Amino acid sequence: MKIILLGPPGAGKGTQADVICKFFNIPHISTGNMLREAVEAQTDLGKEAQALMDAGILVSDEVIVGLVEERIGKKDCRSGFLFDGFPRTIPQAEALVKRSVEIDFVIEIDVPDEEIINRMSGRRMHPGSGRNYHIEFNPPKEADIDDETGEPLIQREDDKPETVKDRLQVYSNQTSPLIKFYSKRIGSIGYIKVSGSESPKVVSQSILDQIKRS
Ligand code: AP5
Repeated sequence: MKIILLGPPGAGKGTQADVICKFFNIPHISTGNMLREAVEAQTDLGKEAQALMDAGILVSDEVIVGLVEERIGKKDCRSGFLFDGFPRTIPQAEALVKRSVEIDFVIEIDVPDEEIINRMSGRRMHPGSGRNYHIEFNPPKEADIDDETGEPLIQREDDKPETVKDRLQVYSNQTSPLIKFYSKRIGSIGYIKVSGSESPKVVSQSILDQIKRS
């Protein structure tokens, strides 16, 4: 099973990725998490990506495609994977076509911009795993502590309201054209659209129900 999760920043891609990946037993490939790991380790890539990410600007297609190609060449991706935050531009999507990566489902999670800006201020993340929480909608069992490791949670640098607005603009200009790109390929790819404004559980159920029906 090969799945792409598409949607604006804060739509709930990472939240839904956890559920879908467990259900299908496939690896979760988040280019955002891969870049954050590189920043944390202060590799050359991390140093290059940090300022761009903090400002909500996309990292170059060339760098991202290289990262993804290397990742999907690994053994655990043989029976499928889920892309979260990739592709994010038409050239990134074309790179997958060129490499003959056959996608089964594109899942678009739709959330209005105003709701996203409110959501982001409440997000908390476990830096080691990229696991996300929300102080109100999806709280950890103990405030500011990761449920699985007991380690502290952090707030992401790019979750400041001004940066979130810039990220939404980048999504509208550079990523939303992918909706048309993939909608046109219906037949070979299943295209599913869900409202991400419902509770995380309702959104997961809607995604899994639509996959089962397809
Ligand atoms: P990335 O990490 O991919 O960020 P993003 O796409 O902006 O998405 P987010 O992780 O912010 O949100 P999400 O949709 O996963 O939502 P979440 O589940 O956390 O990218 C970061 C940066 O890296 C980019 O700006 C760019 O610089 C670079 N980058 C990454 N990939 C790239 C690429 N391919 N090309 C170029 N550059 C790239 O949910 C958000 C919050 O809402 C959480 O608190 C969650 O608990 C809560 N929540 C989730 N669902 C619900 C719900 N249904 N109701 C209420 N609250 C909910």
